[in-house]
Amino acid sequence: MASRGSFSGRIGFVAAAAGSAVGLGNIWQFPYVAGVNGGGAFLIVYVFWIFVIGLPIMVGEIALGRHTKMNPYGAYRALGGKAWGLVGILGILCATMILTFYNVVSGWAFGYFVETVKGTLLEKENYSSFFQGYVSDISNNFFFSLVFMVITAFIVMRGIKKGIEGTAKILMPTLLVILILISIYGLTLPGAMEGVRFYIFPDFSQINGSVIYAALGQAFFSLSLGLGGLITYGSYVSKKENIVSSAAMVTVTDSIVAFLAGMMIFPLVFAMGQSPSEGPGLVFVALPAIFQAMGPVLGTLVGALFFLLLCFAALTSTISLLEIPVAYLRDEHKFSRKKAVIIMATIIFLLGLPSMLSFGTVETFTNFVSYQGQSKSFMDLITDIFSVIALPLGGFLMSVFIATRWKTRNLSAEITQGYSGYAGSIIEKIINFIMVYVAPLALGLMFVLTVLEKFFGIQLL
Ligand code: TRP
Repeated sequence: MASRGSFSGRIGFVAAAAGSAVGLGNIWQFPYVAGVNGGGAFLIVYVFWIFVIGLPIMVGEIALGRHTKMNPYGAYRALGGKAWGLVGILGILCATMILTFYNVVSGWAFGYFVETVKGTLLEKENYSSFFQGYVSDISNNFFFSLVFMVITAFIVMRGIKKGIEGTAKILMPTLLVILILISIYGLTLPGAMEGVRFYIFPDFSQINGSVIYAALGQAFFSLSLGLGGLITYGSYVSKKENIVSSAAMVTVTDSIVAFLAGMMIFPLVFAMGQSPSEGPGLVFVALPAIFQAMGPVLGTLVGALFFLLLCFAALTSTISLLEIPVAYLRDEHKFSRKKAVIIMATIIFLLGLPSMLSFGTVETFTNFVSYQGQSKSFMDLITDIFSVIALPLGGFLMSVFIATRWKTRNLSAEITQGYSGYAGSIIEKIINFIMVYVAPLALGLMFVLTVLEKFFGIQLL
């Protein structure tokens, strides 16, 4: 078989993994989920999950991947046998399903970028009805999400170094510059400080069970954890790299970007007198009105930069999601990279069609099922199952796998390569303690509570 490929070094890996982490989850989802769940209060719970559970789980995933040099199925199977292999399969399936709707939302971002550049977006009168019309217009969605998938496929086809790493090394720094520029601009607007206050100062009375789960789900999604995405990227990392410090760099970058996205959006929202708890439409409804108020020249410039940023963030994540099933098909079924990419990209695009039609275009998909006392669309259902529920479950299963099957001494031996002071250090003790006790308990409990709340309407916390 042709070589599996590898990252060129530490910077290449960190850029690619940070590119996977930083995505729509940070810029589209994080601010609206924080806005709906009380701003600053949410932020504190989020930071807790990111560093206490997220970072150690990330270290575990990368170590599993690097140790086995395999896709998630191969990795679990090699170390744990057939039954554990199923956990890997589950992760690969969930990643595939996440990409089906992720690509649809990426298509919206791309379409909004084009509308902004053409000057048509800023001429609209009511952005809420425009957004509803836009997402139910199949011709736009079909075209833009198809182009997005083709670009993703093209990059993944070019392989690890040239495709995945090369793209991340260009897009990630550009994204950071745009984000900082827009945040600085937003902070200079009158009224911006109210947004900063909402975002930074926690109101602890807002913390309840659903804020705690929402923050956990968001943390896992944002760090790309729980489905073996980092097992896959970890399988391309050399034994010379320090896994713990690389994971810390990825985690910090991801948190900074999510934090700055809030810093960019809330001051703008408050400065323009809009509601921070708008929901999923926050960046598609609230922001265009704000760009419009800036006037045609500045508004087009800032708006186009913003939607470009959103597309870049999405692209490095769609790349990482596609690489998961591609690595599986190459390792386990000996497909060439090209064939694996073409087959998976086609299947994923087709499976995304019902999600694309979930916004009023087709009634069956728009009101697909009903739970939590509400009617839910096909896309809501897919999001709830494959991201809200599956990610913490995947993290739970991985920590149990490391604790009971692979064993922490093997984890330590793997991490020690590239980090000679690890064995016996306090960091090792903390990671092992979290892996064996904290993560299984906390994630197992959260999984049960989330399922009860979502599908059975039982709220215990
Ligand atoms: N982390 C990405 C975001 O924040 C989404 C993502 C990319 C992801 N790869 C993943 C989520 C793997 C779970 C698993 O938008």
